[in-house]
Amino acid sequence: MAHARFTVRDYRPEDAEAWLRTWAHVAITSHAWFFLYQVRPAYARPTVLLVAEADGHLVGFLDIELENSPGELCYREDEPGGFAWEFGVLPEFRRRGIGRALVEEGARRVAHAGRRHVEYWSMDQEAWAFYRAMGMHELERHYQFFFRPTPEVKEALAAAGVRVQFLYGTCSPDRWEDIRARFALIRDRYVDAHLCIGFDHRF
Ligand SMILES: CC(C)(COP(=O)(O)OP(=O)(O)OC[C@H]1O[C@@H](n2cnc3c(N)ncnc32)[C@H](O)[C@@H]1OP(=O)(O)O)[C@@H](O)C(=O)NCCC(=O)NCCS
Repeated sequence: MAHARFTVRDYRPEDAEAWLRTWAHVAITSHAWFFLYQVRPAYARPTVLLVAEADGHLVGFLDIELENSPGELCYREDEPGGFAWEFGVLPEFRRRGIGRALVEEGARRVAHAGRRHVEYWSMDQEAWAFYRAMGMHELERHYQFFFRPTPEVKEALAAAGVRVQFLYGTCSPDRWEDIRARFALIRDRYVDAHLCIGFDHRF
């Protein structure tokens, strides 16, 4: 699929290194991921793997894994869909329609594979604006956070030889104030708590 200044095409194995570099740049300029990868992710189920190229460089990516049965990956459990694991565009190439082109081409491929929706989840506010602009339906929202273990948890795991440094959890927004008050949340800028919103792209 060719546009005036960029192209969307299938990911190829020889893209692996460029893919990881682009992913890393997108990851450090957004709040979409907590953890870094050192290898390009691989998937057990069927996939739609797309990249966007501009000026001879890989500037965007979209990885969708397809469910064989409902509920394997997606929040929606009424019919099998796709789950978007990796999606991003380099900051200097944003707002040129590349994200839209990736999502639309992804939908065409997923529809061809017999599924009628893809879920996109993100902790990044710019991504929320994008998903809303694309007309996607909000599915669910929750907080993701890191916190210090309570003395009871610390002791229970110490008995098994595990020294717990921190725990990772999620909660619904209506429990957030209570949880913030009751637990020792880690609020430094590397792992600050984030609201995560899931969107459903139906086609
Ligand atoms: C989300 C993301 C992929 C969008 O890519 P993009 O190429 O900039 O998107 P497009 O140019 O196709 O945007 C289409 C429309 O979405 C809306 N939109 C996109 N980014 C927006 C923003 N930051 N604020 C408000 N609206 C936005 C606009 O309506 C835009 O149309 P317009 O530019 O004509 O106004 C990009 O912002 C990104 O890589 N973010 C960081 C990674 C991330 O959060 N990934 C998703 C979770 S895994």
